[in-house]
Amino acid sequence: MQFQWYPGHMTKAKRMMQENIKLIDLVIELLDARVPLSSRNPDIDELGKNKARLILLNKSDLASSKWNEKWEQWFRDKGYFVVKVNAKSGTGMKAIQEEINKACQAKMERDRKRGILNRPVRAMVVGIPNVGKSTFINSFAGKASTKTGNKPGVTKGKQWIRLNKNVELLDTPGILWPKFEDQEIGLKLALIGSIKDEILNKSDLSLVLIRFLIKNFPGTLNKRYGVIEDNFDSNNIEHSVGILNQIAKNRLFLLKGNQFDLEKASMTVIDEFRSGKLGKITLEFPES
Ligand code: G4P
Repeated sequence: MQFQWYPGHMTKAKRMMQENIKLIDLVIELLDARVPLSSRNPDIDELGKNKARLILLNKSDLASSKWNEKWEQWFRDKGYFVVKVNAKSGTGMKAIQEEINKACQAKMERDRKRGILNRPVRAMVVGIPNVGKSTFINSFAGKASTKTGNKPGVTKGKQWIRLNKNVELLDTPGILWPKFEDQEIGLKLALIGSIKDEILNKSDLSLVLIRFLIKNFPGTLNKRYGVIEDNFDSNNIEHSVGILNQIAKNRLFLLKGNQFDLEKASMTVIDEFRSGKLGKITLEFPES
């Protein structure tokens, strides 16, 4: 499969982020908990160096709890502050303030020594498209926050959201484009819906998902669609297509002439994975 991106947007977004990052103390990086590495743009480490770093594993409601824990620990071991969140429901928002305080302790200490008191921490939210940046900003800022206008000098033209007396959030998130260093990353991003559907072959994608689920989350497809997973050979393409056939059969997805509608079966598996109907599933694991 081939994936296409839009270099014009990328360059502009990157430039904007480089400008904005100069204004802030803390980078709040949103990752998709189902694909914490593939949804990460490695440039952020260079862009955000010398800044306090907080990683939010968002959409944690859609990912496996066991692997959420493991990923949280994995990032902590690498020195990041981490919180698992569900920006949509607001779960995890309270824990964030605490982590922000920890992440910015050194900065606050520096300020205090220089005699600067009560300067709020300035933060910017960054992440790939669709990871939940706007949802998070709305959820975290809530109704209590107030927008502050332009401040002369440093923050000309920027809108800041005053969250409380300690934190201000830049109201425009930084958009990072995912990096397709390999096909695998592209496939995972396609599965979570980060890539426009029109440029994808849904059947191929659903077969990738079927193989992954039977290997790593056995019983998932059986539970949802009643398919038989026994003796499944992931190297045998006929077996994967056979599963699609079973899904079409069990769901009565039929074309004219009573042929199974495999395209509809493919779309159903992918859509139901994305919406969490197949359960809480993580697509990549720390060891790999
Ligand atoms: P972006 O600014 O980073 O581009 O992402 P945005 O906030 O627009 O969120 C993209 C989609 O992800 C939205 O769904 C949003 O509701 C959903 N979302 C964000 N955070 C979470 C989360 O923690 N859990 C779950 N399950 N979903 C989340 P949408 O389909 O575009 O809109 P809607 O139908 O939810 O309104």
